[in-house]
Amino acid sequence: MTDNLIQQAAEAIHNAQKIAVLTGAGVSKESGVPTFRDALEGLWAKYNPEELATPFAFKKNPKLVWDWYQFRRELVGKAKPNPGHFALAEIQKRYPHTVIITQNVDDLHEQAGNHDVIHLHGNIAENKCFDHCQGDPTIIDLKSLEWDEEAGPPACPHCGAHVRPNVVWYHEMLPEAAINRAYAISTACDVMIVVGTSGLVTPAATLPQIAKNSTDIPAQIIEVNPDYSMITRFADIKLEAPSGEILPQVIEALDNLTS
Ligand code: OAD
Repeated sequence: MTDNLIQQAAEAIHNAQKIAVLTGAGVSKESGVPTFRDALEGLWAKYNPEELATPFAFKKNPKLVWDWYQFRRELVGKAKPNPGHFALAEIQKRYPHTVIITQNVDDLHEQAGNHDVIHLHGNIAENKCFDHCQGDPTIIDLKSLEWDEEAGPPACPHCGAHVRPNVVWYHEMLPEAAINRAYAISTACDVMIVVGTSGLVTPAATLPQIAKNSTDIPAQIIEVNPDYSMITRFADIKLEAPSGEILPQVIEALDNLTS
């Protein structure tokens, strides 16, 4: 990693009119939350998404899916933001036009101090009615329910359907307002920082291409990822290191630019 690339990234960020940040599981890895596709420790290396992360899987075996999400909730619940999250919060503090778009279902960006975070794939701490009986989503507060936790998911107090986590599963649409806003922000930004995503899951993975190809303002793409990803081949600046290590160095470079 050359200091020159860190310097180039800092200059692009400092000179930007509108910054978008797209994050994936990699940004939370240094907080102890496993990614999905790491060869050894990734969740999808150990578990089959078709059995755990689709509406059909939940219908077939609600208890299995519910228990798996309870396990992940505990893991995510214990996690604290790492220096990568704090650096992104610092960027938004210094450049308030910054918007964070995340594929992550944790709230580590918010815990680090970011506001205005677009959650494309939902929020693992929340629950909703499987049949969205009172509108989509019908959020259900588990604290208001009494049920046998060993038996699996509780019943929706309005209609009796199962309660499920408020996350996006395979074969499901993303929350419309969130993805539409993400498209608009990607089209309008002049710098997009893409942190810790393999770029394999659409539509989130299309956002950097949309930003880069925008006829409004073609964005410079800064990628932060220790490995090759689908973003790497068209990134303008690649910071090839873990985000918790390299993003604080970008903040230092920003300090030097402005001092
Ligand atoms: P992946 O697991 O596909 O990719 C994680 C990326 O993070 C990889 O490219 C790693 O190289 C990179 N990475 C690992 N450690 C890192 C670190 N310390 N700093 C920065 N980058 C690091 O995760 P996502 O791209 O987020 O969808 O996956 C996208 C979606 O696929 C997820 O939101 C989830 C999953 O199925 C749903 O649940 C709908």
